[in-house]
Amino acid sequence: MRPLLQVALDSNSLSEGLKVANILGDEVDVLEVGTILCLQEGMEPVRCLRALFPNKIILADTKCADAGGTVAKNCKNAGADWMTVICSATIPTMQAAFKEIDELQVELYGNWTMEDAKKWKEIGITQAVYHQSRDALLAGESWGKKDLDRVQALIDMGFKVSVTGGLELETLKLFAGMNIYCFITGRSLREVEDPKAEAKKWKEEIKRIWG
Ligand code: 5RP
Repeated sequence: MRPLLQVALDSNSLSEGLKVANILGDEVDVLEVGTILCLQEGMEPVRCLRALFPNKIILADTKCADAGGTVAKNCKNAGADWMTVICSATIPTMQAAFKEIDELQVELYGNWTMEDAKKWKEIGITQAVYHQSRDALLAGESWGKKDLDRVQALIDMGFKVSVTGGLELETLKLFAGMNIYCFITGRSLREVEDPKAEAKKWKEEIKRIWG
């Protein structure tokens, strides 16, 4: 399957986020209310996006670590289809969240193991997000073989794996031949002169590589 394209609205305010959504909403497959925007504005951006884009997949990137059931219920009530939990959350937190939301994504940061991934699989989680953290990238990390190997191992376990963190148009070809579920990008789509034209280029590149 051809990978989906998701824009991360990591804006600092609701108005900024909506401005970007207005430009990119029809171009992307998934609209993400980024962690930064969730922390700034709570669930209001999710409610607004649901009102404006009734048929679009909306993800609340809460990176939830605790109180999974309550957070997930709040996301769902606001109109989100998907939400994220951080990989260090406990299994009961993940289970409680998963009961309330259509799809739960485990966000992979820092230290996690394939043993952990087995446990997520056992409780029925199907999605994982392989993340190069913004801070790690700033400290000089970049996408490389070690990442691709871990992404492939998760795909081989049967996860739908999305990738994110400092992706650029040129990065996409690194993943050629891999069954990536979704490319999640923020700054590379938002912080350009013509975000709509840029999103079209990403879709063309995805089509060129995955057919
Ligand atoms: C930060 C995130 C970002 O939304 C995601 O990584 C995309 O951001 P960018 O493409 O700007 O690096 O989850 O925690």
